[in-house]
Amino acid sequence: KPRRMVMVRAQAINPDIKKDEAKVVDSVLVTELSKPLTAYCRCWRSGIFPLCDGSHVKHNKETGDNVGPLLLKKQ
Ligand code: FES
Repeated sequence: KPRRMVMVRAQAINPDIKKDEAKVVDSVLVTELSKPLTAYCRCWRSGIFPLCDGSHVKHNKETGDNVGPLLLKKQ
C-alpha cells in the first residue's frame, strides 16, 4: 500500500507573543497533581502529545521560533 506524502513547510507557530524571549514557557500552579512537574506541548510536534518530549527545541532551531511547553508544577 503506497504511503501518502504530506509536504510541510517549516514556519514559526508563534507570530508575536514574547518574541523578545528565547523561548516562551508559562507555568500554572495546581494543588492536585500526581507528579511534581508535568510539561504540556504547545508546539504540536511532540511524539507523546499532549505532553512535551523536547521536540520544540528542533522546531525552534529550524524556524527561529520560540515556543516552549506549559509547565504544571505541584505545590
Ligand atoms: Fe512541543 Fe515541547 S515538544 S512544547
